[in-house]
Amino acid sequence: KDIDALIEKLETHHNIDKEELVTLLALEDPSKIYQAADRVRKKYVGDEVHLRGLIEFSNYCSNTCFYCGLRGPNKTIKRYRMEPEEILQCVKYGASVGLKTIVLQSGEDKYFKITTLCKIIEEIKKLDIAVTLSIGELSTKDYAELKKAGADRYLLRIETTNKELYQKLHPGMSYENRVRCLMDLRELGYEVGTGSLVGLPGQTLEMLAQDLIFFKKIDADMLGIGPFIPCENTPLEREKGGNVEIVLKMLALSRLLLPDINIPATTALAVKDKAGYIKGLKCGANVIMPNIGIDEYKKLYKLYPGKVPDNPSEAVNSLENIKKLILSQNRTIGKDKGYRKKY
Ligand code: 5AD
Repeated sequence: KDIDALIEKLETHHNIDKEELVTLLALEDPSKIYQAADRVRKKYVGDEVHLRGLIEFSNYCSNTCFYCGLRGPNKTIKRYRMEPEEILQCVKYGASVGLKTIVLQSGEDKYFKITTLCKIIEEIKKLDIAVTLSIGELSTKDYAELKKAGADRYLLRIETTNKELYQKLHPGMSYENRVRCLMDLRELGYEVGTGSLVGLPGQTLEMLAQDLIFFKKIDADMLGIGPFIPCENTPLEREKGGNVEIVLKMLALSRLLLPDINIPATTALAVKDKAGYIKGLKCGANVIMPNIGIDEYKKLYKLYPGKVPDNPSEAVNSLENIKKLILSQNRTIGKDKGYRKKY
């Protein structure tokens, strides 16, 4: 009964304290949390699932994040950069199949000049498409220029809000700077997305509860939450990966805390569990990000294993698979740009 009261409080007031979150995260049978999240999702953002066409335009990265296959010191992967023309080709394809948001993602690749990125953004905006960037930590000035060029949204996961764990996993980076970036983006008027990796070595339920409190505190507009999947040729290659149930609990609790935001069922969730997208959509998610890049490059964007099968058209995150899947769940495909509808 205590649990029922907690869930009801969350469902009506969208607020809860950290200890209570830990209790819910630890629940053996989370079905009531999932059902509450599904109701709140339906009430605030409806049955539409927004598609965000993802283009992974460079896998060069100067960072050394312990979990990520694209980390700079990983010399075993072939690096690529797409030409601006190639990027725009993919964008045009996305536009032709009705996508209204393009996500440009890359490693932290210093090669692309901000002016080059601005030109690409301006071209995309001419097609009446929203632009989301996911290109890492930049200066305030760079974020401002990209915004001026027309960028609408920015994704930068905090990964973990536990400072000690953050510093362990991100040598040479700083937690303070990551938060600074998020604050800048908000200040500049971007829709801001953040999120965490679930199942990092040393991560506890208390830390995950703290992540949720952080998302609520900064009033994130979007939250990308997925399981950590160990990747070969990284320092964490022999660690255990994240657990799907805990990811689903994090999605559901995010929806209950921030009822009107955009929450993707992430690719990592779908890679970890064949039914990952469907489970995510039933636990509060209302966004999926199909990959609309070029097949020969998709294979090389190896954040974690299993992302791209030998035949990329069989990938879980192909546009065709995703459209079918959404309709099979009696959900609809969003037709507009899918901004956060603040209530
Ligand atoms: N497993 C799951 N997700 C990962 N990411 C990076 N490496 C991994 C991994 N091994 C996620 C990070 C990053 C996003 C682009 O990809 O959270 O923010």
